[in-house]
Amino acid sequence: MKRVAIITASDSGYEGRREDASAPVIEEIVQKEGYQVVKKFLLPDDKEMLAKAMREIADDGGAELILTTGGTGFSSRDVMPEATLAIVERLAPGIPEAMRAYSMQFTKRAMLTRAVAGIRKKTLIVNMPGSPKAVRECLEYIISELNHGLEILL
Ligand code: MTE
Repeated sequence: MKRVAIITASDSGYEGRREDASAPVIEEIVQKEGYQVVKKFLLPDDKEMLAKAMREIADDGGAELILTTGGTGFSSRDVMPEATLAIVERLAPGIPEAMRAYSMQFTKRAMLTRAVAGIRKKTLIVNMPGSPKAVRECLEYIISELNHGLEILL
């Protein structure tokens, strides 16, 4: 069974001022691909909290895949790439490169996501932008190749 953890970075979501519409989109897409969603976190845009959540999942072997949404833009609160880079052992730059290249047909603002991807132990971590629209566009494009990457990683 392929297990996935979903982490949403959103100050307003964490404070209950906004509903997290992106995690449900991730859930819908991965479930269609046969993944089991084992953990869902809604966290503030806090580098230490985000890094800790990702590190613990990877170190416990709790999921083969961590998909994050949000916090990849240019605002000073956008720290998901920095949190991810703090805990990954190996980079997987081709994944965000592919997401950005593919996404340019939808909006040139796709060049503004600083999303990264990498591996810690046996867990692949992939950042995605925050909007439900962006999540759907990015994840539907990369998911089949993530399947193959995870088979090799195991
Ligand atoms: N990628 C896709 N596929 N579709 C989108 O609508 N929005 C962009 C970009 N990537 C977008 C996208 C925009 S407007 C921004 S600001 C950045 O992602 C960063 O988003 P984030 O700060 O929510 O992570």
